[in-house]
Amino acid sequence: MNVRWVGRVFVFAVLLPFASLAEDPPAYLDSTKPIETRVEDLLGRMTLEEKVSLVHADSKFSTAAIPRLGIPRRWMSDGPMGVREEIGPDTWNAAGRTDDFVTAMPASICLAATWNVDLAKLQGQTIGEEARVRGKDIMLGPAVNIQRTPLCGRNFEYMGEDPWLTSRIAVNYIEGEQSRDVASCVKHFALNNQEQDRGSIDVKVDERALREIYLPAFEAAVKEADVLTVMGAYNQFRGQHCCENDVLLNKILKGEWKFTGLVMSDWGGVHDTKEAAINGLDLEMGTNKPYDQFYLANAFIDGLKSGEYPMSVLDDKVRRNLRVMFATKVLDKDRAQGSLNTHQHQETARKVAEEGIVLLKNEKQTLPLDVKKIRSIAVIGDNATRLQAAGGQSSGLKAFYEVSPLDGVVRRAGRDVNVIFSQGYVVPPSRRRNSTQPVPASGPSAEELRDRAVAAAKSADVAIYIGGLNKEPFCDTEGTDRKDMKLPYGQDDLIRAVVAANPHTVVVLVSGSAVEMDSWLDQVPAVVEAWYGGSEAGNALARVLFGDVNPSGKLPFTFPRHLEDSPAHALHAYPGENGVVEYKEGLLVGYRWFDTKQIEPLFCFGHGLSYTNFEYSNLKLIPGKDDNAVTVQFDLQNTGDRDGSETAQIYIHDVQPRLEQPDKQLKGFQKLFLKSGEKQSVTVSLPRHAFEFYDPQKSAWTTDPGDYEILVGASSRDIRLHDHTRL
Ligand code: BGC
Repeated sequence: MNVRWVGRVFVFAVLLPFASLAEDPPAYLDSTKPIETRVEDLLGRMTLEEKVSLVHADSKFSTAAIPRLGIPRRWMSDGPMGVREEIGPDTWNAAGRTDDFVTAMPASICLAATWNVDLAKLQGQTIGEEARVRGKDIMLGPAVNIQRTPLCGRNFEYMGEDPWLTSRIAVNYIEGEQSRDVASCVKHFALNNQEQDRGSIDVKVDERALREIYLPAFEAAVKEADVLTVMGAYNQFRGQHCCENDVLLNKILKGEWKFTGLVMSDWGGVHDTKEAAINGLDLEMGTNKPYDQFYLANAFIDGLKSGEYPMSVLDDKVRRNLRVMFATKVLDKDRAQGSLNTHQHQETARKVAEEGIVLLKNEKQTLPLDVKKIRSIAVIGDNATRLQAAGGQSSGLKAFYEVSPLDGVVRRAGRDVNVIFSQGYVVPPSRRRNSTQPVPASGPSAEELRDRAVAAAKSADVAIYIGGLNKEPFCDTEGTDRKDMKLPYGQDDLIRAVVAANPHTVVVLVSGSAVEMDSWLDQVPAVVEAWYGGSEAGNALARVLFGDVNPSGKLPFTFPRHLEDSPAHALHAYPGENGVVEYKEGLLVGYRWFDTKQIEPLFCFGHGLSYTNFEYSNLKLIPGKDDNAVTVQFDLQNTGDRDGSETAQIYIHDVQPRLEQPDKQLKGFQKLFLKSGEKQSVTVSLPRHAFEFYDPQKSAWTTDPGDYEILVGASSRDIRLHDHTRL
């Protein structure tokens, strides 16, 4: 080859790519083009193998890059309370990095207890912003399964027992998160209401309960928030695993609700290539096999090549994956960059924690504590110092910082108050993987700890007992349910002893679920539910206890007096028999059961006290037209001497139902901040859908004309105003 020829080949080889670049960029790289155009363009350029690489994982939390087309690796991360620490790539062990700290946001149950949709949006935005800095494309949350039993280990990750409240919080959270160019993943679709046997249990539920109780939050996430991804659940429904479930995925989610995003499996939730291929799964994650042996990897390629599955099945999955990629601007220059642990993130974490705290009981004006009148405080209980953000399994976080309740109280009490701490009870060490709690050396016995706590309580002006549950196995954690509803570690006895030693005792529960309180509640003047409050937990708690913040949280689920009072347990319909759990209570979940059956709960759904008082008056029901069925108007006044927020709740009661209806159902709420003495008019519109029920005979939502009572209250059992309307 002569030199001139070599030169010409070189020039040709070098110039060709530039020549093609000089042309318009391919449509899929053009961010001004509609998403569908970009999807079709890119799809047309992909080989079969490249397409299949997008529908299964290539590490614990990613899918493969396609460098030829400039598609980067796609990263997912848990979860609903912040971006999880880095693990893997091929194991569940922590990667041991130093760049994976985040702001720990409060648990979702705390967020729900705020009843504040603006805070839900902010929580979503915060997690979205941190996700971007951490390089994540899809965040595995929010988790919206309805609380069916107080024992479910993941109740803290969910948003309580009511579909309307859960929907409002979830929709706003998703809108906030997705506004930061990150896809949310609403999970676990569907009926993942217990951890026990979660991988296999087959849920038998009637069609109405399915549609009216268990699906609405998912439906709202799809139809209102345009959630980009959905995660299937581990359990089965009608004999088919939810990640491969034709009814749930093809018929309801994609058919009826017209979901255009992608369905991913829960980690290890896929069991069969054919079922996954044809029943609506678009992305397989977490299978316990080498990645090329995933059900939607080589075996799927073989089936496509042999004609067992038409190419359209694969193309539909790939389109859905690409849509999510384009919607989150993965290939665009103007993708949001995010930010990490900013002052604003910390503020949001604190506000959510503060507004979620529920004042359950407050007699003799025990709270707020007046720092000027107190010389000494005994803080008692393991949860006063226990850091909770890291626990609970997949939702656990590596927090930049976490203010413990004790730290919060010490800081707020100031130098003039002597705060003494006594652990009170001991939590036996667990051998849990990744546990960050140190294993205590052999220490004082339970009796010694109790005696010390009692002595501390006796010596102080005020005792603040901070106990409850934690994220250990069989408490509030993924993977196990609680065995009963009692406080663990002998806390009932301890609380009785503490309050006997000091009647000025405040009990603070740190938990994600209800606990029994029968044996001490009468003797304790003040009880606070603080949930898991994230990075700012201790500050938020202290600000509520000392009255810097007027509590405004309301319970997102019923606290039963005893476990047997709650529906799944009263009907012996938990945890199931022979692999099947029958939801015998049907629609009567949570307060729907307690109210219909007239069972007195310990604390009802929607309950939460304030340091001020609110008066409701002047109810007007204005019949609407078209989609607006009725407009509810009333006045709300803060009649106490402190500023504060109140969540007014609107329930409807069908006076003469054709089919069974719960006694009342939440259909609207509004949270309002009112200065002391201030009065405001509140308006809540109830759409027709609020009066609809799912008619199994017609397989459709429907309303019956008739008489409906509208109830306006401070809780589900503290109804202040009511009147009738006709449909
Ligand atoms: C959980 C999911 C989680 C996934 C990935 C599963 O065990 O059920 O909620 O997103 O793990 O960590």
